[in-house]
Amino acid sequence: MVIIYRSNTGFTKEYAGMLGKAEKLKVCSIAEAEGKIGPQEPVFFMGPLMAGHISGIDQAVKRYAVKGVCGVGMSPPSPQILEVLSKANYAPGVPLFYLQGGWAPKKVSWIKRRMVGMATKSIREALRDKGSRRTPEEDRYLDLLLHGGSYVTFESLEPIRTWMGGLAL
Ligand SMILES: Cc1cc2nc3c(=O)[nH]c(=O)nc-3n(C[C@H](O)[C@H](O)[C@H](O)COP(=O)(O)O)c2cc1C
Repeated sequence: MVIIYRSNTGFTKEYAGMLGKAEKLKVCSIAEAEGKIGPQEPVFFMGPLMAGHISGIDQAVKRYAVKGVCGVGMSPPSPQILEVLSKANYAPGVPLFYLQGGWAPKKVSWIKRRMVGMATKSIREALRDKGSRRTPEEDRYLDLLLHGGSYVTFESLEPIRTWMGGLAL
């Protein structure tokens, strides 16, 4: 299996690199994969979320034998996210995973920063309104929304590694 990823600000790339190292799998960006990875080779695709859509998934599904998909976003993981992702992303019959990456406002264009700013406005306001009643986790998330930050950890890869461990590839 080969890990093919797309990454705009580096969080998905970081996860793909850690996963490849741990599972001893080849890792390449979607651009590097072109002409190098054959259509029959099993692929695990990882891409950043943009308005609920996993960037690059359509290209990957069209070109390669995608066996599993992972979306990387800024929101905390939850069962609802997986449900939304499975409805908004075409990955026929393959397992779908979600990882919390991070938010790098300085690495995206002002228009994208604004889009994210608008999409997360109500969450920011709700967290701000909680004031001193915010939990440390909520403090951390509010800080991420306001200033950026990373939630990338090796431990988060566990469900994907368990799934990969059960594959006969
Ligand atoms: C325009 C735009 C839309 C985004 N939409 C979502 C989203 O719907 N859900 C989410 O969790 N994160 C969303 N994000 C945040 C990114 O998915 C997150 O920062 C991710 O970790 C980026 O991965 P990368 O560094 O590999 O590009 C969005 C970011 C941008 C710039």
